[in-house]
Amino acid sequence: MTVYIETERLRLRDWREEDLLPFQQMNANRQVRRYFPSLLSYKRSEYDMMKMNEVIQAHDIGLFAVELKETSGWLGFIGLNYVPEESKYTFAELPFYEIGWRLIPEVWGNGFATEGATAVLNYAKDLGLEEVYAFTSENNEASRKVMEKIGMKHFDYFEYPDLSKYHPLKRHVRYYKDLKR
Ligand SMILES: CC(C)(COP(=O)(O)OP(=O)(O)OC[C@H]1O[C@@H](n2cnc3c(N)ncnc32)[C@H](O)[C@@H]1OP(=O)(O)O)[C@@H](O)C(=O)NCCC(=O)NCCS
Repeated sequence: MTVYIETERLRLRDWREEDLLPFQQMNANRQVRRYFPSLLSYKRSEYDMMKMNEVIQAHDIGLFAVELKETSGWLGFIGLNYVPEESKYTFAELPFYEIGWRLIPEVWGNGFATEGATAVLNYAKDLGLEEVYAFTSENNEASRKVMEKIGMKHFDYFEYPDLSKYHPLKRHVRYYKDLKR
């Protein structure tokens, strides 16, 4: 196991085989996926977990598995996702790193996302990253709150690709953090 970031209560590390089932269950949970267009199949989650681990191992940066130090229990993920120039997005600022998080509902509201994401921003800064973006559905209040609590500023609104014009999640919001300051 490689631990990349440690905070007071959390370890952000690479992924382990035993994370797979809880990761699959989290991605198939309607409450967790409320602000996403669909649930994820177990097969898709397996693929995503493998990819996240490959990226972490190759670049030391990525979407890290999060575990609670006190119990070693798996809580979800927090980290950075590289959004390349050739992607479904049309942002003028591409490529960039996006910070993101997804935790199991049992632990929401304890400040874990804020704690982990703050440490990820410091880690990104130490690695020389100059800026980070974040985005979510406009009405995902919890996620927006985390963005604000870690010092990100509202940047713009955009229409999420792949969704029909009238889809309730169509309107997204983007936040930004300048790591040079
Ligand atoms: C977003 C998420 C990671 C937040 O995790 P968390 O550990 O509960 O976050 P924190 O406790 O650090 O902070 C959440 C903040 O949002 C607030 N919040 C939670 N639900 C809220 C709501 N419906 N409306 C307004 N604020 C809300 C909390 O009160 C807290 O703020 P506070 O500390 O000032 O009280 C978690 O809700 C989650 O995994 N959601 C599902 C996946 C998801 O939507 N990911 C983001 C996609 S971009």
